[in-house]
Amino acid sequence: MPQVTVTEQLLLHQKASPMATGRFTRLLNELILAAKIISREVNKAGLVNVLGFTGETNVQGEKVKKLDEFANSVLIYRMQRSGLLCAMSSEENADLIEIPDNFQQGDYILIFDPLDGSSNIDVNVNIGTIFSIFRRTRANGPVTLEEVLQKGSEQVAAGYFLYGSSTMMVYTTGEGVHGFTLDPSVGEFLLSHPDIKIPQTGKIYSINEGYWDYWDDRTREVVSYFKSTSNERRKPYSSRYIGSLVSDFHRNLIYGGIFLYPRDYRDSKRTTGKLRLLCEANPLAFVVEQAGGMAIDGENRIMDIEPLELHQRVPLFIGSKNDVLKVKEIYGKP
Ligand code: AHG
Ligand code: MN
Ligand code: MN
Repeated sequence: MPQVTVTEQLLLHQKASPMATGRFTRLLNELILAAKIISREVNKAGLVNVLGFTGETNVQGEKVKKLDEFANSVLIYRMQRSGLLCAMSSEENADLIEIPDNFQQGDYILIFDPLDGSSNIDVNVNIGTIFSIFRRTRANGPVTLEEVLQKGSEQVAAGYFLYGSSTMMVYTTGEGVHGFTLDPSVGEFLLSHPDIKIPQTGKIYSINEGYWDYWDDRTREVVSYFKSTSNERRKPYSSRYIGSLVSDFHRNLIYGGIFLYPRDYRDSKRTTGKLRLLCEANPLAFVVEQAGGMAIDGENRIMDIEPLELHQRVPLFIGSKNDVLKVKEIYGKP
């Protein structure tokens, strides 16, 4: 197969996709460099001092892992210097990340989860980086929070890097979904999965069933559907869950399946689930819709949700269209 790099793929679609302007290609290449640096640390995590915790707690109330912090600092350092951004937001930072005055400002906004699946870092299970890119809505002046809190349907690009048996990059600019695999011998991401399409009905369901007691009856009915032989497929789905959204999502994207992270009811308080709208649900929703799949919060399309704050959480049901429609049908019953 001819070896097509990400840059060639973008330039190849330069005409088709207004997005793939030279500036956008440079933005993606800066992101790729950051991912290569993160991938190098991930692949030797056991040998250098990046395992374990930093001792801090982040805005999510989670203990920060050293590799979380490393990935976050690499992304902020590189992307601040790209000259293409007017602001950033990271899962690890409470507030917007400004672009220092001594760096050139641009028109793009980058929102990211620097390291997704952190609980897996110390046990060598796949982790990833998720990114979401918007254009600012004002022509100039200091960027406002409203410009960052745009609906997912306004994203101009989104995707993720997966640090696993190989390092992969999967992204969309609204012209389908393309997957690239890093060839470490040349340091380039080469096109390995052109025009990814998710099967319309899957055979895998991914959920942390340990929370069964926290769920309401409708959610239990949803999960029971995928486990039962009375579903339309007349065979139970396989349960696959590794606690790393980006890995569970990627497997289901390629094989077909559904990832579920419902709201739950802890200490009689109704939560909105754990996953973040801006840096997890929206970017993966853009990818899955471009691959022919679907992403909802149980009722509404994820990419139609008007964000109210940077770290807003949202229930997430994402994957094969017919499986997500089944979830919507069950939750929608009177
Ligand atoms: P992060 O490491 O960025 O905080 O994300 C972890 C998320 C997601 O990757 C995964 O699907 C989910 O947390 C697992 O949550 P549970 O441990 O509650 O199942
Ligand atoms: Mn995450
Ligand atoms: Mn994270």
